[in-house]
Amino acid sequence: MSTTPAVIAIDGPAASGKSTVGKKVAQKLGFLLFDTGALYRAVTLAALQRGVPIDDEARVSELARAIRIDLLPADHNDGRPYTVLMDGRDVTWDIRSEAVDAHVSTVSAYPGVRTALKQQQRRIARRGGVVIAGRDIGTVVFPEAPLKVYLDASPQVRAQRRCQELQARGEPADYDEILAGVRHRDRVDSTRATAPLRIADDAVIIDTDHLSIGQVVDEIVRLARQRHLVKQNA
Ligand code: DC
Repeated sequence: MSTTPAVIAIDGPAASGKSTVGKKVAQKLGFLLFDTGALYRAVTLAALQRGVPIDDEARVSELARAIRIDLLPADHNDGRPYTVLMDGRDVTWDIRSEAVDAHVSTVSAYPGVRTALKQQQRRIARRGGVVIAGRDIGTVVFPEAPLKVYLDASPQVRAQRRCQELQARGEPADYDEILAGVRHRDRVDSTRATAPLRIADDAVIIDTDHLSIGQVVDEIVRLARQRHLVKQNA
């Protein structure tokens, strides 16, 4: 094995399946899943809850430096992929609310927020044995990752998947509204000035439109073995 930490970077647009796939890959390999979108979501939630105006870049960035966010293995059997604590409080489902969905792209475009969260992400990546899911992991946060995957899917398929996810939790889901939200986030995420969503030159692109979750997981595990990130029998 090389001295580069065993890191699998999974980037891709909203609802492309990064956390679902990432969780299963991590389970198979005995790695930790670090879903970085949760960090941006937690900062957005903190701003909404504390009445900090979302368009106040300086105050939102200050908040990103001040709050403590922890990602832990799931501690409830309610379908959560992991548990998110914000200053010690369980916000795992609160960060998935529509209000957070509507504002998180604005918050994650702020350079001050990205700088504050980047250090935390690199610290965890350096430990190795990690699957990191996000938008800029292979390009900005951890470009030295020995395996970079870019998960793609059409906006329609991604909106459909998000709908099913919400319905499975018994929450209302309007396909057209969700599709519009997915498209809006794509636009903001890929046109922002700082760390836009972009495919790393050396990333493996997987188009998931016609693949099952299991097929995507198997392909990433195969690539990880091929690159000697794991023992052959892991
Ligand atoms: O993956 P997600 O939907 O939970 O991400 C939420 C938002 O955070 C999304 O609008 C893009 C942003 N994000 C980012 O800018 N960089 C990351 N590494 C992860 C997420």
